[in-house]
Amino acid sequence: MTVRSAMDWGSTADDAARAYQGYLVPGMFLALAEKVVETAGPLDGARVLDVACGTGSLSRRLTEAGASVTGIDLAPPMVAVARELSSGIAFVEGSADELPFPDDSFDVVTCQQGPAVLPRPAGRRRRDAARAA
Ligand SMILES: C[S@@+](CC[C@H](N)C(=O)[O-])C[C@H]1O[C@@H](n2cnc3c(N)ncnc32)[C@H](O)[C@@H]1O
Repeated sequence: MTVRSAMDWGSTADDAARAYQGYLVPGMFLALAEKVVETAGPLDGARVLDVACGTGSLSRRLTEAGASVTGIDLAPPMVAVARELSSGIAFVEGSADELPFPDDSFDVVTCQQGPAVLPRPAGRRRRDAARAA
């Protein structure tokens, strides 16, 4: 099954990224990030790739849990906000369709609220994430 997004994330505007961070992150995504960290298990020293990282709320929570985190997101304004709010996290502008990382770069791959918006079939994305991890 191919999942297609109703939204063109590549043209996300600066103010949309800030509204996302101001309203949706505290209202919704911070609580989900707690669940992801809990589910991931011990993260101390783990190299984590956070796919479709958005403004970086999960990336920051993963860092607090001891992980060394790289975030990647398609929308430059989302990445810009992530960089503003974070330190010690590498944020990359890029697509989950073509992860620009060598094999075995990561121990864990996370993707919070990303699968539903990514354009490629889930199986292919999972294989690519598995290659990078
Ligand atoms: C609902 S937000 C989730 C963001 C973040 N994971 C969080 O929990 O706050 C979906 C994100 O997916 C990103 N996105 C959409 N298509 C993408 C793609 N092909 N590759 C990477 N990121 C993508 C969007 O730019 C957006 O930041």
